[in-house]
Amino acid sequence: MAVFSVTLRLVAITLLSATLSLAHPGFNFGWGGHGGIFGGSFGLFPEFYQFSCPQANDIVLSVLQKAIDKEPRIAASLLRLHFHDCFVQGCDASVLLDDSATIVSEKKSGPNRNSLRGFEVIDEIKAKLEEECASTVSCADILALAARGSTVLSGGPNWLLPLGRRDSKTASLSASNTNIPAPNSTLQNLLTSFNRQGLDEADLVALSGGHTIGMARCTTFKQRLYNQNGNNQPDETLDKSYYLGLKSVCPISGGDNNISPLDFASPARFDNTYFRLILWGKGLLTSDQVLLTGNVGKIVELVKSYAEDENLFFDQFAKSMVKMGNINPLTGFNGEVRKNCRRLN
Ligand code: HEM
Repeated sequence: MAVFSVTLRLVAITLLSATLSLAHPGFNFGWGGHGGIFGGSFGLFPEFYQFSCPQANDIVLSVLQKAIDKEPRIAASLLRLHFHDCFVQGCDASVLLDDSATIVSEKKSGPNRNSLRGFEVIDEIKAKLEEECASTVSCADILALAARGSTVLSGGPNWLLPLGRRDSKTASLSASNTNIPAPNSTLQNLLTSFNRQGLDEADLVALSGGHTIGMARCTTFKQRLYNQNGNNQPDETLDKSYYLGLKSVCPISGGDNNISPLDFASPARFDNTYFRLILWGKGLLTSDQVLLTGNVGKIVELVKSYAEDENLFFDQFAKSMVKMGNINPLTGFNGEVRKNCRRLN
């Protein structure tokens, strides 16, 4: 009886999905195992593409692997893209839209300009997915899959990833400017910014651990070397030898686009050294080091526990990535599945 009812449910979903796909190109229920039409909600769930594009994750991983072999840093750039997507109108691929008659691109915002990378890799993934499963896998889900794949291929944790996000028809330059925290943020700024997205202290600390891979430009941390508090002195929380090394990469004038690793000990390896470096005064950005120097007991404890226990960090990072990936997604009939991630259909 149970088998019969599950079968009936699947047949019904497949028929309904096919009908709706014809009526509304790009619409797909995927696998209705978690509520879906029968639960009355359009939540995200890991099996969303199980029938409509079962090879989606393999396609993402194969493009990623080639891109990372060519340039390991691209993994970091793709992880960051998902963050900058989710903090602005939710995880809806708004960050990928180029300027057009109706769109003011988020790519020009303060946090993104001359900084966000990886758009060409997303284009390549999208093109392959369109060849194999046309109008099915959203750009917002591609960003989430690419962030997870980049983490795994860099040596980090894996997680069950809820899917079924749809793509926005709008972007917000102003929200991109206000919602993404600045590198010279105080701990209070960071907490306020993350709380606004429904994320807590544990999410802030674990997700900051994303800085275990990738690079930052001098312009994002130069203030710490020459004038941290308006008194022409370096940040006193910076380890002295690390400070001298950074000064040689970032002179007092010019060199703003020179880059330095966020985790100089293992810049392409997803591990917990980011937290150990913070304990030694070797966090690169003010926003990294304040996790320790901000003196909020609970946060200091979290930094120490992740520095000591990599598995603990990996578990929380995975949980927090799922939580960040669930920020305000478009589902059901909202938004669309873009054919080209850079523009509306
Ligand atoms: C806590 C607040 C955060 C601040 C203030 C911040 C700030 C920054 C800054 C300033 C850069 C360097 C950008 C450049 O020089 O062009 C950067 C890079 C990066 N961020 Fe964050 N970030 C934060 C949170 C996150 C989160 C939550 C993630 C992902 C989970 C993340 C992942 C990355 C990665 C991987 C890079 C390196 C990108 C690359 O090499 O292309 N960041 N971040």
